[in-house]
Amino acid sequence: MTETLSPAPFATFGEFLRHLRRRARLTQRELGAAVGYSEAHIARLESNQRMPDPAVVRAQFVEALHLQDEPETAAQLIRLAEAAREMRHVLRASPPRGGPPTNLRTQLTSFVGRAEEIAEVKKRLGETRLLTLTGPGGVGKTRLAVQAASEMLPAFPGGVWVVPLASVQDGAQVPNAVASAIGMSSEGLVTVEALRDRLRDDRPTLIVLDTCEHLIGACATLAVRLVQMCPNLSVLATSREPLNVPGEMTWQVPPMRCEEAMQLFVERARAVRPEFALDKADEALLIQICQQLDGLPLAIELAAARLRVLSLEQIAARLDDRFSLLTGGNRLAPPKQQTLRTMMDWSYDLLSEAERVLLRRLSIFTADWTLELAEAVCAWEPERAEAQEQGDSAHLRREDVLDVLTHLVNKSLVIVDERGAQPRYSLSNTIRQYAQEKLVEAGEFDRVYRRYLEYLPFVAQHEEPRAAPRAAQKRPRKHKARLAPPPGQIA
Ligand SMILES: Nc1ncnc2c1ncn2[C@@H]1O[C@H](COP(=O)(O)OP(=O)(O)OP(=O)(O)O)[C@@H](O)[C@H]1O
Ligand SMILES: [Mg+2]
Repeated sequence: MTETLSPAPFATFGEFLRHLRRRARLTQRELGAAVGYSEAHIARLESNQRMPDPAVVRAQFVEALHLQDEPETAAQLIRLAEAAREMRHVLRASPPRGGPPTNLRTQLTSFVGRAEEIAEVKKRLGETRLLTLTGPGGVGKTRLAVQAASEMLPAFPGGVWVVPLASVQDGAQVPNAVASAIGMSSEGLVTVEALRDRLRDDRPTLIVLDTCEHLIGACATLAVRLVQMCPNLSVLATSREPLNVPGEMTWQVPPMRCEEAMQLFVERARAVRPEFALDKADEALLIQICQQLDGLPLAIELAAARLRVLSLEQIAARLDDRFSLLTGGNRLAPPKQQTLRTMMDWSYDLLSEAERVLLRRLSIFTADWTLELAEAVCAWEPERAEAQEQGDSAHLRREDVLDVLTHLVNKSLVIVDERGAQPRYSLSNTIRQYAQEKLVEAGEFDRVYRRYLEYLPFVAQHEEPRAAPRAAQKRPRKHKARLAPPPGQIA
């Protein structure tokens, strides 16, 4: 017998969902399977830690919970989903009176997955007062930091302040950016002491220094001094490279897991094509797209936006030319995230000449490589005439490769796998394609390719040589459960 139900007692979407799921005798896993979500996602919906998507509730949950013949109950569930969205806007826009002060804003797009990563950030912020989230451009450092910070608001009664630094161009302006984020009026350059006086609170306070890599020295100095001078202050930084200061704990944000990347794609796809749904054939294609895009949320969002005019198949077919394909960032995204290329340019522009030279030459390897191979293939002393013609720009000595390679690892451009007897290095698909374009532009492709062929006997057996730059971009697809660098890669 079906239990009669008065929807009224359920004030939140999560409570009501749990009730309906139990009534339908489904586990969280079973419901998840029926609607295309993970078990963890259902658990977070039921505990009101995730915002429901009313469109998905309407399209998937009603049937999965056997509510087709109970229009009122279904309508109530959808209403609660819509109310949850509204509440979120209200709550974030103006935190409850008496709650910790914050400048955290409503995020305009849904947050997907990352339950483990959020738990990791929370745990680490319990162990250190200076935590840096590192990782390549577009991997989701900012989004993760902001999400974790907003979930930790109650733990920081002194306040949670996000300091956006991407548009700050001068390191001397970093203290002013902090002052402006915490609502401190300032004239001229703000001193660290002035910030200290304002931030020295008896209650725990959190500052998120967002995007530090282009002002790395200034951010490092300020973060350390503030943490030293304010005993209750914690700093969560996001940066493509670590601050590299005493007391800093770094944590590398992994790419999205395959199922999260797919969910992100589907959610963003529905924004441009509300009727978008995945059938079995599409699913295989989407897995391939997400893997090719290295599980990078930014690339996945840009790809989903292309569904406005292209089919999933066309998107998959064009990923070899991803820099032309992935150009349609939303107007509110920061300039460096408008296209996949601007995202890469931002990192490349911050490199020294030697780092650029090595990065572009490393793109010759289709799979991973060792230090010795990189030294052999990518470094040579220029002939005298060549040196005169090129100046310093193409010089890379064998003995410098280790240092330069280390910098590229620190800057989240080269992936290192330390699980074997000796470290092996690799590039993500996106970074390798970008670097290979630079190699061709520099007129070095043929020379590096010849050297690569010379050393081919020493290259790992699973690596295959390439005949020409374009063909080389079509490397055999590696199947990885997580679209991530190997676990040993934590900086
Ligand atoms: N978990 C997520 N859920 C939904 N969207 C996400 C998630 N993670 C990242 N994104 C989206 O992907 C894009 C890139 O993410 P984000 O800006 O956090 O990357 P980043 O690592 O900080 O990049 P950068 O190095 O350029 O600062 C953004 O549009 C962001 O909203
Ligand atoms: Mg960022």
